[in-house]
Amino acid sequence: GRAAMKICMIGTGYVGLVVGACLAEMGHEVICVDNNPAKISALLNGQLPIYEPGLERLVERNVLESRLSFSLDISESVAQSQFIFIAVGTPPAEDGSADLTYVMKAVEQIGASIRDYAIVITKSTVPIGSSERIRGIIEKQLKNRGLTDLEFDIVSNPEFLREGAAVNDFLNPNRIVVGSSNPRALAYMEKLYLPLTSKGFPIVHMDIASAELAKYASNAMLATRISFMNEMAGICEAVGADIERVRQGMELDHRIGSYFLSAGVGYGGSCFPKDVRAIIQSATERNIPTHILEAVDKVNHKQKKKLFEMVVGHFGEDLKGLRLAVWGLSFKPETDDIREAPSIETIEQLRKRGVQIQVHDPVALQNAYQALGEENITYFTGLYQALMDADALLIFTEWKQYRSADLGRIKSLLKQPVLFDGRNLFNPYMMKEEGFVYQSIGRMK
Ligand code: UDX
Repeated sequence: GRAAMKICMIGTGYVGLVVGACLAEMGHEVICVDNNPAKISALLNGQLPIYEPGLERLVERNVLESRLSFSLDISESVAQSQFIFIAVGTPPAEDGSADLTYVMKAVEQIGASIRDYAIVITKSTVPIGSSERIRGIIEKQLKNRGLTDLEFDIVSNPEFLREGAAVNDFLNPNRIVVGSSNPRALAYMEKLYLPLTSKGFPIVHMDIASAELAKYASNAMLATRISFMNEMAGICEAVGADIERVRQGMELDHRIGSYFLSAGVGYGGSCFPKDVRAIIQSATERNIPTHILEAVDKVNHKQKKKLFEMVVGHFGEDLKGLRLAVWGLSFKPETDDIREAPSIETIEQLRKRGVQIQVHDPVALQNAYQALGEENITYFTGLYQALMDADALLIFTEWKQYRSADLGRIKSLLKQPVLFDGRNLFNPYMMKEEGFVYQSIGRMK
């Protein structure tokens, strides 16, 4: 068989866990480390801090087969490993740039602990130029330790994982991007990814800055397509066109393709909003104008207010005493992640106006409760329970069970048959036939 490589994954958040478990699945020996004792002890007990389809089984199997382990001891784990991945969080700072506090802390621990030649890999999405900064910090620490001869390489290896499909995305990648200035490091990275490249998945080599930018550019392009379609949806409403038909008229053109053309309540999550703002920040620092990126962000902010505007448009400015049902809290289906979710922002706006809100989500109730608390909100585990006596239903996430929901039952439970659909789940003509007041995005009222 192939030689297993020794890997240390710093950070057991979303990216770290998925990548760590997948690298173990590929046959490598992986230690996932974190400085949060509660997280590590939960993981040692087989409990995952996140919901991701397929991950639990993957972790269980690889722990059982001794390829995957968890530890609090960063120094020891770093010292034992040849590949050291940095996968800690990079939350947005106030100005929109990525906050690198956790990354730099990890880097210092690496510089203080490596003993032999090591490859330090940034997996977290870091601003362009960060990998070079990381090199400087490690060099300085090795000098302080009197180890100026100890060699190491820096590699940028961005991830392109989608929440809800992350395991599959990692093991069946469209491409693997690796950036380094040293051919030696690129050769080692090729060896690391051999289990995937031997199946035909492509790996692309480049310099570090290009790899860092490839990640931002990919996410920004996808966000651009969404904002573009949301802007088109607004035009559709004004001219009496249907955005779903317009999309069908576009997507068969191979040059355009069919992905990421769904109009909706705007993009959320931990990547698109943050990455678009971070690249704007990086460019602005260098005096480069970012007309397109700023427009993408602006359109998205506007789009996130769509359902709130529908509510005001229908019920008037005075919303006091209204009772509204909300289906879907996560920023997209198959995840419990509510970061930058359009639902959360809208719920906050509505309750400030004195609206009582009854929410349902198949997996995100707990996260929402932590973010929103109890003020004017009731949480329901049954989707139909959440409808009881509500004046209207708002849909934010295209969970399967909403798409296949019983329309007759929805109508009988609501006080009035009013449905504002932020994900275009139903056919507007059919909804009208069924007796609903139905509004969706970019289609007839
Ligand atoms: C994204 C990228 O897809 C992934 O490659 C990157 O590594 C991280 O960011 P993720 O945030 O998990 O992944 O979700 P994604 O499925 O891309 O959706 C992002 C947002 O765009 C969601 O809020 C979704 O509802 C919205 N979206 C997506 C649309 O509004 N319309 C679309 O057509 C597609």
